[in-house]
Amino acid sequence: MKKYITDSPSETRAVAAEFAKTLSPGSVVCMYGDLGAGKTAFAQGMADGLGIDEPVTSPTFTIINEYEGTLPLYHFDVYRVGDSAGMAETGFDEYIDGDGICVIEWAELIEDILPDDRINVTISRLPERGDDAREIIIASEDQS
Ligand SMILES: Nc1ncnc2c1ncn2[C@@H]1O[C@H](COP(=O)(O)OP(=O)(O)OP(=O)(O)O)[C@@H](O)[C@H]1O
Ligand SMILES: [Mg+2]
Repeated sequence: MKKYITDSPSETRAVAAEFAKTLSPGSVVCMYGDLGAGKTAFAQGMADGLGIDEPVTSPTFTIINEYEGTLPLYHFDVYRVGDSAGMAETGFDEYIDGDGICVIEWAELIEDILPDDRINVTISRLPERGDDAREIIIASEDQS
């Protein structure tokens, strides 16, 4: 488990960029954190780390956005799908079994279809430290 504290969106992006460089094909990254915690900011940083120049925007309405980097990046935001039953038509299974990196915002909504072998990223506000302070915990999980 690794723990970071950041005091700006750019610091969060930098942490995420370094993290992304440690990943390999097929990695699945599940993100947890409240509305506005910084999940999309973290995904943007992962894109930086994978050499993606294209702007990374929240896939809230599209559910998934694909980017080509040193590895493909598949950025999911499942908030509007709401549960795992709605995920089949997004091609979720194929992405998860593919050779890119999947990063999933609101992963807790589809907990029952997440792979056992994954990395969890939890982002929390630290109001006592300041409005822009965030704690980022990165933990590998193999529940098999
Ligand atoms: N240390 C920080 N790290 C990340 N974001 C920060 C930080 N400090 C302030 N912010 C701000 O917090 C907001 C994070 O928004 P972001 O869209 O990344 O959150 P989110 O977790 O993806 O929310 P949602 O659940 O709506 O998708 C941005 O406005 C960003 O500028
Ligand atoms: Mg988001």
